[in-house]
Amino acid sequence: MVRAALLPAVGAPLELVEIELPEPGPGRVRVKLAAAGVCHSDLSLSNGVLRAKTPVVLGHEGAGTVVSVGEGVGTVRPGDQVVLNWAPACGHCHLCGIGEPWLCENSYAASTETYAALPDGTGLYPGLGVAAFAEETVVAENALIPLPQGVPLTSAALLGCAVLTGYGAVHNAARVRAGESVLVYGLGGVGLAVLQAARIAGAAPIIAVDVSPEKEELARRHGATDFLVADDGTAKAVRKLTGGQGADHAFECVGRGSTVRAAWSATRRGGRTTVVGIGGKDDLVSFSALELFHFARTIGACVYGNSDPVKDVPVLAEHVRSGALDLEALITDRITLEQIPDAFERMARGRGGRSLVVF
Ligand code: APR
Ligand code: ZN
Repeated sequence: MVRAALLPAVGAPLELVEIELPEPGPGRVRVKLAAAGVCHSDLSLSNGVLRAKTPVVLGHEGAGTVVSVGEGVGTVRPGDQVVLNWAPACGHCHLCGIGEPWLCENSYAASTETYAALPDGTGLYPGLGVAAFAEETVVAENALIPLPQGVPLTSAALLGCAVLTGYGAVHNAARVRAGESVLVYGLGGVGLAVLQAARIAGAAPIIAVDVSPEKEELARRHGATDFLVADDGTAKAVRKLTGGQGADHAFECVGRGSTVRAAWSATRRGGRTTVVGIGGKDDLVSFSALELFHFARTIGACVYGNSDPVKDVPVLAEHVRSGALDLEALITDRITLEQIPDAFERMARGRGGRSLVVF
């Protein structure tokens, strides 16, 4: 039996429960979590903005140590340190075949089947296939990324979502070049990781925008050269900071139609908006056909920062070792499983950076 934070139903409060984990079957691996980050997607899954099968153990940004492996597992052994991957690629679907494993057609399959149970036998679903809000989890072998040397296991949890997503958005999706201007809307764990990635790319200026004025100090620590409180004058203020042009690149890290539109409006003619946040299905974004043509801007979303974790986690580890990527700075609150609701509350009010459950 291990302790887990359970979401019994959409909209219900989290409950701390003991769950029964099976020994790993063929191709599966049992992992003892060292840490798990609290991401806005967990909040969105718990309140119904995103869909999840329940009862579910959420948490998809984790790192830990392999406890035991099932038959046929060849890439990891007990004792190995790993980061959990919430979008594991099957390697044989069309999109994997054309080199876009982050869009794998089978990557969400694990979250639709129960993986553990309550003592009364009720089956539990793993949030995004990972179920990191528990002392231990069982996942498929391809949902594990070996942790490279030199990255502390606890902060490595953040590689599993915020950092892979934020870094990838900048370097894989938008391909920001040195000297280009970058605008980041929304400064939670994901937006702050985008700021650090823009700093690594040599972008300038790096303009951070949030509704919450208290994010300014945090933003500057992560590489922002300028900070703006989001309001109706944001696009104008961004133009002023970019020689009258608008930003070369905007990154939407909130997950709302209104901020997608606001970010897009603050890019220059021909600029690019990369949507990183995940909004609701009824939250629309509108552009007139004429303005689409006139501004000739590009807009597109990325999933997991268009990252291939197998290739990209070693790159991130190199940046951690060199000091260019500061994982510790992203963590503003170290919490227990019981305190996840407080982390959701901080998120809803726009406070702090990442909250990290440390086991
Ligand atoms: N304008 C600007 N900033 C906003 C607005 C707005 N209208 N509304 C909220 N924000 C800010 C919040 O103040 C907060 O700083 O957006 C930030 C969101 O941060 P978190 O809640 O910590 O979210 P995070 O985990 O970083 O995820 C961001 O990416 O992966 C997706 O589902 C996730 O859509 C979410 C997004
Ligand atoms: Zn996430």
